[in-house]
Amino acid sequence: MKRGRVQKNTNMCSSLTPCLVLLLSFIILPLCESFNYGQALSQSLLYFESQRSGRLPHNQRVTWRHHSALTDGLEQGVDLVGGYYDAGDNVKFGLPMAFTVTLLSWAAIEYGEQIAGAGEYAHALEAIKWGTDYFIKAHSQPNVLWVQVGDGDTDHYCWQRPEDMTTSRRAYKVDADNPGSEVAGETAAALAAASILFKRTNPHYSQLLLHHAQQLFEFGNKFKGKYDESVGVARGYYASVSGYMDELLWAAIWLYKATEKEEYLKYLLENAYGFGGTTWAMIEFSWDNKYAGVQAIASMLLMEEQHKKHEAILKQYRSKAEHYLCACLNLNNNLTNVERTPGGLLYTRKWNNMQYVATSAFLLTIYSDHLQSNGQNLHCHKAQVGPHDLIALAKSQVDYILGSNPMNMSYLVGYGPSFPKRVHHRSASIESFRGNMGFIGCTQGYDNWYGRPGPNPNTLIGALVGGPDDKDQFQDERRNYIQTEACTYNTAALVGVFARLHASEGESETPLIASSK
Ligand SMILES: *[C@@H]1O[C@H](CO)[C@@H](O)[C@H](O)[C@H]1NC(C)=O
Ligand SMILES: *[C@@H]1O[C@H](CO)[C@@H](O)[C@H](O)[C@H]1NC(C)=O
Repeated sequence: MKRGRVQKNTNMCSSLTPCLVLLLSFIILPLCESFNYGQALSQSLLYFESQRSGRLPHNQRVTWRHHSALTDGLEQGVDLVGGYYDAGDNVKFGLPMAFTVTLLSWAAIEYGEQIAGAGEYAHALEAIKWGTDYFIKAHSQPNVLWVQVGDGDTDHYCWQRPEDMTTSRRAYKVDADNPGSEVAGETAAALAAASILFKRTNPHYSQLLLHHAQQLFEFGNKFKGKYDESVGVARGYYASVSGYMDELLWAAIWLYKATEKEEYLKYLLENAYGFGGTTWAMIEFSWDNKYAGVQAIASMLLMEEQHKKHEAILKQYRSKAEHYLCACLNLNNNLTNVERTPGGLLYTRKWNNMQYVATSAFLLTIYSDHLQSNGQNLHCHKAQVGPHDLIALAKSQVDYILGSNPMNMSYLVGYGPSFPKRVHHRSASIESFRGNMGFIGCTQGYDNWYGRPGPNPNTLIGALVGGPDDKDQFQDERRNYIQTEACTYNTAALVGVFARLHASEGESETPLIASSK
């Protein structure tokens, strides 16, 4: 059922216009809440430490976690120790893990200075490297990529800390006979993006990442196939609905950014139409669907002199990027906008809606800065808007997440006075390994911990949960995984936005007024 398109903001600060009024009347100004984005940034990076699999380092800050899954891959004769647990369970899913690392790397590329300014750059690189170290191991031969360890069905049968796991840790791969272009493409994108970051501080590692990225892209491109047809156990959890063409374009554009080699640009241009890059108009950006990301980056290339000769195709990419951004801004012709809750939250779908909110906040922020530095506006069907309108929307979404919402609750765990206390997360909901090293069995976890009405014993700081429904309502219950589970790619999309908003804190608010609506 489609909800009405009228945007009703019950929240004073999440809408631009009431804020303008408040800004102009100084007496009421303090009513406009201000959030501590620096703290949110620190917390968001901490979250990745709670999701770590493998042998934890001495500087591990999340101390309720311990070493786990130290024999991953052993059955298949490959070392797959490390990487990230995906969400509230203990499976390592390659596709969303790679998307998480691509998002984190993009954030650190775009907002490295701002992240460093908040004292968090080392943590950001650690979060990225925890993923890329794993991808290097998982890419054990040029045409072999291990894309999953464990499986959702046996994992979900138990409620266990990763430290105690007794569930299957079977590993699954894609190869020339069983291809998986989505996961090869996304992993290539992640490694290429990360290689940009390590170029200066660790050139050898950067080269290694790039080498793997190039091979993985070749593999995914040469042996085309849907990964969830090769790896059936992924289908019930991370089925690729959008297919693999978006990931191949995505990998190509990140490889182009990392190498500046013409062959990757050529790939992006020659496959623009055939792969849907210039034909699909999107209203979401997610672990499955990368088109909006490809389109946004392609459209930013347009501003660079050396790309002028490719203007025709890049402009087609730009028009699709604009479609996405205008849909978020509610400025497309009425049927192709992103819905909003009465409280002003972008609303895509019921299950883990926050992932889409976070990715749109990220793309809006990046594109806003792009427009700003090129002195440009965004042309939507209903209006032409300036960079400040884009960042204002991103900020309103982040402020909603941090507590400016009808539930008066922060959906970033650990932030502010009120946040979800019963996150659907195995290790957070069971007493910590440090406190009790005794084995907690498969069903014992369900019996003794899952069903408890009380709060989780461990706080999953920095996790962005699935969030409220289309009426801004949220039930903080462990079994309500649609709303209370968090995923690594939710938080990953917010890192850059927090850093950007933190850096601009204290700057004059007047640009908001000077919007060109
Ligand atoms: C879309 O806009 C048209 C004209 O602006 C209007 O008549 C129509 O009712 C709108 N449809 C929806 C679903 O809002
Ligand atoms: C949220 O806070 C506002 C203002 O303090 C209050 O009016 C409202 O009842 C609160 N809502 C909930 C769900 O607690």
